[in-house]
Amino acid sequence: MEKFYITTPIYYVNDKPHIGHAYTTIIADVLAHFWRTQIGEDNVFFLTGTDEHGAKIAEAAEKNNISPQKFTDNISTLFKEAWHNLEISNDYFVRTTDENHKKIVVDILKTLKQAKTPQGNDVLYEGEYEGLYCIGCEKFITASELVDDKCPDHNKVPEKLSEKNWFFKLSDFLPSIKEKIESGELIIYPEGRKKEVLGLIKQGVPDISISRSNKSVSWGIDIPWDKDQKTYVWVDALSNYITALEYPAGENFKKFWPADVHLMGLEILKFHTLLWPAMLMALGVELPKSMYIHGFFTIDGKKMSKTLGNVIDPNELVNQYGAEVSKYLILSQFAFGAESDIKIEDFPIKYNADLVNGLGNLVNRVTNMVEQYMDGKIDVDFKDMNLGHEELKQLHFREALLTIWQVIAKDNSLIDQEKPWVLAKDKVNGEARDGGLGHEANKEKLTKILQELTLDLYNIALSLKPFMPKKSKEILDIITAKQIKKPSEPLFPRLQIK
Ligand code: MSP
Repeated sequence: MEKFYITTPIYYVNDKPHIGHAYTTIIADVLAHFWRTQIGEDNVFFLTGTDEHGAKIAEAAEKNNISPQKFTDNISTLFKEAWHNLEISNDYFVRTTDENHKKIVVDILKTLKQAKTPQGNDVLYEGEYEGLYCIGCEKFITASELVDDKCPDHNKVPEKLSEKNWFFKLSDFLPSIKEKIESGELIIYPEGRKKEVLGLIKQGVPDISISRSNKSVSWGIDIPWDKDQKTYVWVDALSNYITALEYPAGENFKKFWPADVHLMGLEILKFHTLLWPAMLMALGVELPKSMYIHGFFTIDGKKMSKTLGNVIDPNELVNQYGAEVSKYLILSQFAFGAESDIKIEDFPIKYNADLVNGLGNLVNRVTNMVEQYMDGKIDVDFKDMNLGHEELKQLHFREALLTIWQVIAKDNSLIDQEKPWVLAKDKVNGEARDGGLGHEANKEKLTKILQELTLDLYNIALSLKPFMPKKSKEILDIITAKQIKKPSEPLFPRLQIK
């Protein structure tokens, strides 16, 4: 791979960032860091941003008594700040209210208006739409999706809407999309989600209306040939993945498109796997290579919601643990793709177990021994063992971390078993130990053990780089110095658990 382009969904600005948004963004960050170490900084592009148009956002702005633009400026800034605090390394932050984005979306719409489907039909056509519209979802929903007449996700009665809209002839693209998914040209991971999408295609998917009348949606991009209509938010939003690269002529577009990985939660799978590829085909643009879909997590067994008051603010985690530890704690909770639960009271326990007693302790013990017994000088052939790389390439974060922590556990027990301090004492005294090993033999054994431990630490630190770039560098600096010294402060101070 000579370039790597990774994206997160662009987040709605109707509310401030929470740990769910942070989760996807952290995953993207780790992968971006990883590929930077593999193919070089300049060959990686990591995009995130905010999705700022639509009725839902206009409604939130109205509630707050400010203009939609002011409102989106404020919340978008909160997202930028949260990612800054978490030390997220995105290369660009796209906003759908950016002039550049809006201009390119208009060009995209104009091109779609002229385009034909593989069957030779117009891609866009005018039609009448009647249906139940949920503002929370920003989409029409079917009666069968309702629970007690309400949208189950937003617990709200949808509005009945009937209006003239522009439609996208999605059905004409489905056979090619199906073929590309089946052949693996477009990877959908995990397998279960791929089956889900193929199942949807088999059932048949109705055409999608890609505009809304100004009466129902006023905050959005005008349809260039029909001033009574605004662009549907999903057409506006999905386009961000190419507008941020300055499609069609931008250098970044030429260099980085197609996306290598679109990351997202399962609820937006349909738009990404059906509408987005169809839009790209209609534009004559190559499809992304893969989409990785993760599950939603709950907090202490409950769906995150403002009413329950269990929404976790990533900034609070950063205040308590710092950016790198927060990211570690979030990622190590569960396997990618799984639907899972976050137990916030486990965080301090995990911190003490993995970082204080595991990694921090190992760094301390090894550097202390090398300093004491070898005068800080040890001859190690620093070979790169690519610990956890295969797992990371598959986006198996937790498994990559487990691989690293297995080495940490192995080394800590090696020290317990071999008791290098006994070997060292023997060396200092210049006498053979009870076991009968002679002075030279003990010295040799001690050196070997410390070499192994130092080499392991080097590799542990290297593999941790995508997860904890600063801690990784701290450890590498100590280990690769001419004279190894135990750090004056513990790498991870112990937390008192109440
Ligand atoms: N604006 C759309 C996406 C447009 S992309 C072209 C949107 N925004 S959102 O603010 O609702 O963000 C949804 C995404 O946030 C999910 O797909 C997921 O990546 C992340 N998550 C939000 N809540 C989450 C959990 N509870 N658990 C895991 N991820 C969560 O949809």
